Amino acid sequence: MNNYTTARADHFIRENKQHLCTDYRLQFHLMSEYGWMNDPNGFIQYKENFHLFYQHYPYKPYWGPMHWGHAISNDLIKWSYLPVALAPDQEYDKDGCFSGSAVEKDGKLVLMYTGHMMTGPNKDIDYVQTQSIAQSEDGVNFEKIAQNPVIPASLIPTGASQKDFRDPKVFERDGKYYVVLGSNDGSGNGVILLYRSEDLQHWTFVNDIARSDGSMGDNWECPDLFQLSDRDVLVMSPQRMPSQGYDYHNLHSTVSMLGRLDTENGIFDYNNYEPMDYGFDFYAPQTCVDNKGRRIVVAWMDTWETEIPTQQGHNWAGAMTLPREMRIVNDKIIYVPVEEIKAYRSKLYELLDFELNGKRNLDCYGDSYELEVVFDAAEAEEFGLMLRAYEEEHTLISYRLQDSLLRFNRERSGIGPKGERITKVDLRDNQLMLRIFVDRSSVEVFIQDGEKVMTGRIYPGPESNGIHIYARGKCRVVSFRKWDIL
Ligand code: FRU
Repeated sequence: MNNYTTARADHFIRENKQHLCTDYRLQFHLMSEYGWMNDPNGFIQYKENFHLFYQHYPYKPYWGPMHWGHAISNDLIKWSYLPVALAPDQEYDKDGCFSGSAVEKDGKLVLMYTGHMMTGPNKDIDYVQTQSIAQSEDGVNFEKIAQNPVIPASLIPTGASQKDFRDPKVFERDGKYYVVLGSNDGSGNGVILLYRSEDLQHWTFVNDIARSDGSMGDNWECPDLFQLSDRDVLVMSPQRMPSQGYDYHNLHSTVSMLGRLDTENGIFDYNNYEPMDYGFDFYAPQTCVDNKGRRIVVAWMDTWETEIPTQQGHNWAGAMTLPREMRIVNDKIIYVPVEEIKAYRSKLYELLDFELNGKRNLDCYGDSYELEVVFDAAEAEEFGLMLRAYEEEHTLISYRLQDSLLRFNRERSGIGPKGERITKVDLRDNQLMLRIFVDRSSVEVFIQDGEKVMTGRIYPGPESNGIHIYARGKCRVVSFRKWDIL
């Protein structure tokens, strides 16, 4: 048995956090205090505050036996760290407390997570995954219950993987609890399983509510299921989903499906699915609903098997996206940064209504800011922005009229992963509206009021703070606004 405990993790972080290298540390996004972070977990508003837990290995900036880090916020932007909530300290979770979710029951904050247990020497095949519960009276200290695991492997139906069975997302509906879990059918197709319970401890299998038809990845992780307006939305993270046109070019993807859930029979009837983000780094999203009824999503702003430069000597890796509110407009999901971010705007720089033909270096700079830019295409062939620019270095956001393609290009962004992501965007009254958040080592581009979002990590040099705007052919900039954030 290992000797991981939450106390040991907290002690280690306290003793070592002065060794953190702050280059590339983000200003208004959550990162781990020290060490590694991946998926958001247990996202909930509990007694007024937002709690966001995360997959965490405190000892190195690499994935390892998973703990749950824990942070709290009253506005979703400024987070404070709380003690590590879970450590892999039980037989059934000895090799990791994997992803899961939170629910409030009788005033307690209840976490449901996957216990990962190795059963042999080969880490890729010799393991069992089961679902367990930990609960807290004060929202800080968690106790794993004696009845764990509450969903043992014996409750996995035939036709689903007997190994990949993880990432419980709990929700309440009609006075009952439900949980969705990610799995696969054992022959290369992702599957989502639905279970029901009266008390969070005794669970029965309802049905597999969705499965890949062969075109959507070989294993599905991190499902989430919730109501949005009068629809149900199923979200999941398919592994190794083949690309379709410009979509799904990352190794692993995230997908939302708009449909309707029949909880009685466990059938999710959906008519379409689409990516949740069109950039590079957005994985394992999880949502919560707040006391204003907003549905808010946060994702891990990195992804598996890509280079993360802060792993070399910086002692931390991983960050969360800005929390985004999800809404349905004209039967499509849109994503809007939570309005709380506006309270952090300062030093407005504004240019209104000017003609552009060629490149203009703007008299504003920064590495942590928000831009709101409205282009009127006029006679241009192409227009766009160069961010974090200095000499040859820049991150390019460009739009080409001929094929209506928006590009996020990080070929010259600095060190770290490169490449380009492309998506089709229709102009509205000949206009393109971009709201862009740049934060030290990240860029999030909200397009046409959140119709699409492109997210990516970049690692520019410290001098790369310039902002350029350009057009090939004549275009009109209706407005260019920049605020520093924080
Ligand atoms: C998704 C994931 C989950 C798992 C966790 C382990 O990124 O692979 O399926 O629970 O990470 O850290």
